[in-house]
Amino acid sequence: MISKTMQDALNAQINLEQASAQLYLAMSAHCTGKSFKGFAHWLTVQASEETAHAAKLIAFLLDRGGKLELKTIAPPPTEFGGVIQVFEQTLAHEKTITGRISALFEQARNEKDYASEIALQWYVTEQVEEEAHVGEIVDHLRAVGDQGGGIWYLDSRMGKRGTV
Ligand code: FEO
Repeated sequence: MISKTMQDALNAQINLEQASAQLYLAMSAHCTGKSFKGFAHWLTVQASEETAHAAKLIAFLLDRGGKLELKTIAPPPTEFGGVIQVFEQTLAHEKTITGRISALFEQARNEKDYASEIALQWYVTEQVEEEAHVGEIVDHLRAVGDQGGGIWYLDSRMGKRGTV
């Protein structure tokens, strides 16, 4: 049986993953509004990944006999600036998530909750990949700038991301 403190922490993380999905859908709509359909596609796929992250945590919580307590998700912004700013905000958001996953991992370790620690290892690894991937996109965007042909090339490349 999972502890009440770990249950609460996992429920908070589930809320955060779902809030991340909402944020990326809002960013996707923002990019579509600027006719950057490739960036919009990438962000929609990312939103699906976040929903999958939440679902994986929900399954784990229930397997441990925990109680799911879904919470209200605050509405995301509707304006994000240029595409470079969109992905800078994505990177900042992912860094925040990494911090939360690290805190959860530490809590599991302190509680000697080995099952949670092992389940959270997947998220620790995933965050390394997420930050590296988004960081690369930010580097490419900064290199080409938001004027000229380079950004449209990047847009078409981002549109090729496979779905989850
Ligand atoms: Fe579920 Fe992008 O962290």
